[in-house]
Amino acid sequence: MSEDNSMLWGGRFATGPSAEMIRLTGSIDVDLALLECDARATKAHARVLVAAGLLDEADLGPIDTALDTLVEEWRKDELVPHPADEDVHSLVERELTDRLGDLGARIHAGRSRNDLVAQDLRLWCRDAAGDLLEDLAGLVETIAGRAEEHADTLMPGFTHLQPAQPVTVGFHLLAHGFALARDLDRMSTARDIADVGVLGAGALAGTTLPLDPSIGARELGCEGLFDNAMHAVSDRDFACDLVYATATLGVHLSRMAEEIVLWTSPLLGFARLPEEWSTGSSMMPQKRNPDMAELVRGRAAGPIGELTSLLTLLKGLPLAYARDLQEDKAVVFRAVERARGCLAGMTAMVGGLIFDEARLAGAAALGGSWATDVAELLVARGLPFREAHEVAGRLVAAVEDSGEELAPEVLASHHDLLQASDLARLAPARSVAARASHGGPAPARVKEQVGRLRRRVLQLRQA
Ligand code: ARG
Repeated sequence: MSEDNSMLWGGRFATGPSAEMIRLTGSIDVDLALLECDARATKAHARVLVAAGLLDEADLGPIDTALDTLVEEWRKDELVPHPADEDVHSLVERELTDRLGDLGARIHAGRSRNDLVAQDLRLWCRDAAGDLLEDLAGLVETIAGRAEEHADTLMPGFTHLQPAQPVTVGFHLLAHGFALARDLDRMSTARDIADVGVLGAGALAGTTLPLDPSIGARELGCEGLFDNAMHAVSDRDFACDLVYATATLGVHLSRMAEEIVLWTSPLLGFARLPEEWSTGSSMMPQKRNPDMAELVRGRAAGPIGELTSLLTLLKGLPLAYARDLQEDKAVVFRAVERARGCLAGMTAMVGGLIFDEARLAGAAALGGSWATDVAELLVARGLPFREAHEVAGRLVAAVEDSGEELAPEVLASHHDLLQASDLARLAPARSVAARASHGGPAPARVKEQVGRLRRRVLQLRQA
């Protein structure tokens, strides 16, 4: 742009930066995504200027119309940036000036791109957190529905991926559901933390103009107002909070995805994915692969990496603004896009999983999963737990050696306190029903948990 020097800050320069410098430092490719937020922030700022007597009330109509048209053109992909548009803020100001002349040129009074970009990104993060919250609420509701449907469907519960104690599919799904409920809390908090008006902070130290930033914040529907101008332009913690929320969400979705991969392996055969959410192999005709689950697991790596990028980007920056901060946006956008894609895939898979109830029930009875119940039965009849554990252990060894199922007389022969008739209560369904302790897998407890989970979603949706 050395020929026309049409940058926003041309005054003190004779020629301006080279085209190469603009190409290498510009951010329009990424931050054009903030256009709608920039238009909202600009409308709010125009109202601040009217209140300060720096614009007329009558100027607002043309400004709003020009900004709305700009957003419309962008949505239709009709907006072509000028080579001198370093970033979205430069583009909006230039377009306003092209369209409104002198009026457009007045808009940047008492404002800097430093407070503007912080405001735009806050608006974007607030919206994104709201969208993620809705998507996530949809997944949690889907889980609650499937858990209710399968409150009685038996399955093995694992520790160390070894059969541990029988549980139900509903109980297992809810374990994921409650992890995701905490993600809902985190999204809601991230939304609140972003919800602060920072217009009026200027470049770093406010302005001599008689601007009232509370007007801008109110126009933008922000709950909070910045306390310190220097902090307002240099702070990106709100972005970190949102990315952190996507990272923990990613971890939770990845653990779920991993279980879908395991459950749908024919070797376990606990569930199948519907055809719409499975893929075949180009060579092996028998294959029905869980690619979506594997991609959720793989893509969850994204937000974790983005969080590290963002924290690393911030850690060495002197106050106030430094251009490094421009790099925050791609990171935040990517993390949110990844998280939303993973949520959509997971919601579809959870909704569509077809459980093989007979196979699950069979697996629930395997591997001596009755052993803890035998020990607890002996404890209830007066034996110290350590002794009871010994007896149950010997019983497991005996059954394993025999290669047969546990038989009533074998059970009775292992301790005076045990009877042949006890065998019935060791069946997985009885075992699960008997574990009615707080938060336990008994179907009645699972139904309570479904209710609690649904209420949590409702509260957060209304917050
Ligand atoms: N594109 C810049 C960013 O995203 C906007 C702020 C530029 N401010 C400046 N003083 N150069 O951070």
